[in-house]
Amino acid sequence: MATMKSLIGLINKIQRACTVLGDHGGEGMSLWEALPTVAVVGGQSSGKSSVLESVVGRDFLPRGSGIVTRRPLVLQLHKTDEGTTEYAEFLHDPRKRFTDFAAVRKEIEDETDRITGKSKQISNKPIQLSIYSPNVVNLTLIDLPGLTKVAVEGQPDSIVQDIENMVRSYVEKPNCIILAISPANQDIATSDAIKLAREVDPTGERTFGVATKLDIMDKGTDCLDVLEGRSYRLQHPWVGIVNRSQADINKRVDMIAARRKEREYFETSPEYGHLASRMGSEYLAKLLSQHLETVIRQKIPSIVALINKSIDEINAELDRIGRPIAVDSGARLYTILELCRAFDRVFKEHLD
Ligand code: GDP
Ligand code: NA
Ligand code: MG
Repeated sequence: MATMKSLIGLINKIQRACTVLGDHGGEGMSLWEALPTVAVVGGQSSGKSSVLESVVGRDFLPRGSGIVTRRPLVLQLHKTDEGTTEYAEFLHDPRKRFTDFAAVRKEIEDETDRITGKSKQISNKPIQLSIYSPNVVNLTLIDLPGLTKVAVEGQPDSIVQDIENMVRSYVEKPNCIILAISPANQDIATSDAIKLAREVDPTGERTFGVATKLDIMDKGTDCLDVLEGRSYRLQHPWVGIVNRSQADINKRVDMIAARRKEREYFETSPEYGHLASRMGSEYLAKLLSQHLETVIRQKIPSIVALINKSIDEINAELDRIGRPIAVDSGARLYTILELCRAFDRVFKEHLD
């Protein structure tokens, strides 16, 4: 929890600094450019949407067998003040505020159909959803259609390559953190997620291997070689996950119950009991938040440089207009200058 708190604090400072830089009108940077994004990659029905929901801690994504996610979903989480009501808003209908997350899921389904028809077609056009909540960190998460090996009836043959190109366009960006989802009940050697992740991130510095469906592996088999880092080793440790099964979804098992069940699974598992503290959705969320903090800290020097450049520009502008006293047109510039200096100090402390 301490990690999450400091991450929230850090991101909030960056957000305020970006706003100030934006106000100054110079080459500001938007918060979303300064921050990393997180995308899920994997085969169809590997559990991508389920994992993403777990990381957010909310039930709101369409999930199920077959190709359910047919457009990219760009999900921006916005941290709001404590005590404010949580709500969601779509870019395609910004006047409507959703407080019921089942209705959010329905709207994602309807908006998918609006562009692709009720077919199994896919579309590159992302659905953009914002969630405003006191319980999230400012972050962009991306749910993507699953990679496939063959087109099914009603799909053009090009769909296999089209999906791969679409997914690649998101995960090849250097600021994209990849959650590479591989179902443990299939051979990890054939995992499309790992194959694509290796291609776009050969050093593995921004890839997290996630093995789902540990609960439905064939009897007598286990995933220990992968989870203990003997095969398909990545720079970050693999995390094993047990998401809700289709039966759980049909029975409307909620997130809290699902997490409890998952924890019990690992704690009582003869195979994975000794790894229990490093497995599960909550652990993945923690690992991800620690990694995000590291990545964001690395951005601070460039933000400090930008702030200093702004300070210089504002001073030059003040010189040009003859250093007016703070009541007239110079007032705003003095205020921005003070804020920039304040951020400069704050970030320099964070560098230590
Ligand atoms: P996506 O297509 O990759 O987004 O996968 P979904 O999250 O929609 O999940 C596909 C199906 O697999 C759903 O029926 C889920 O209930 C099921 N599923 C996902 N993860 C697990 C898991 O860890 N265990 C079990 N038993 N089922 C899972
Ligand atoms: Na699916
Ligand atoms: Mg999905």
